[in-house]
Amino acid sequence: MKTNIILIGFMGVGKGSVARAYGKEYGIFTIDSDDLIESFDNRKIKTIFDQDGEPYFRSLENRCASWLESSVSNTIISTGGGFYSQENINQIGKVVLLDSSFDGIYKRILEHPNAEKKLAKRPLFQDKAKAKELYEVRVSEYKKIADFTINVENKTLEEVIKELNRWIISQI
Ligand code: S3P
Repeated sequence: MKTNIILIGFMGVGKGSVARAYGKEYGIFTIDSDDLIESFDNRKIKTIFDQDGEPYFRSLENRCASWLESSVSNTIISTGGGFYSQENINQIGKVVLLDSSFDGIYKRILEHPNAEKKLAKRPLFQDKAKAKELYEVRVSEYKKIADFTINVENKTLEEVIKELNRWIISQI
């Protein structure tokens, strides 16, 4: 069994922030599937969507998932909100869902000093109602594949990484 931890959850829930804070606190390398895709394809996610569409982006996620499974271990991996649908996700490592209500996620994005930028870089979060529909479809799918779920709403980053660490230790 692989020793990675893979963070999944909806856009804007804080997967990257949690992964980086966890990595810094506990001395573990962190990578992000969207960062890997952007460097592999040498374009921003938004540009990939604009120029080649979502199916092409999903094919890059698929290549990324294969590479993570074959080549990465002992790492905390944050993922894009649609990465959960990769068939081998449970082979990459233990899957941890960061869970929140849609309103909690939206509030979190708006509270960010760069809220506009945060929304602009997410092609599937251009329309709030459509994003909410996507959330409703995905939320039960996320829960099906998660080995562990953390409700992140109204918790500090520190509380979330401690909860994550308690669970990781319990798995050893
Ligand atoms: C997506 C989420 C994004 C990014 C892409 C598609 C999705 O990542 O992978 O825009 O399908 O939910 P974040 O979850 O970091 O926003």
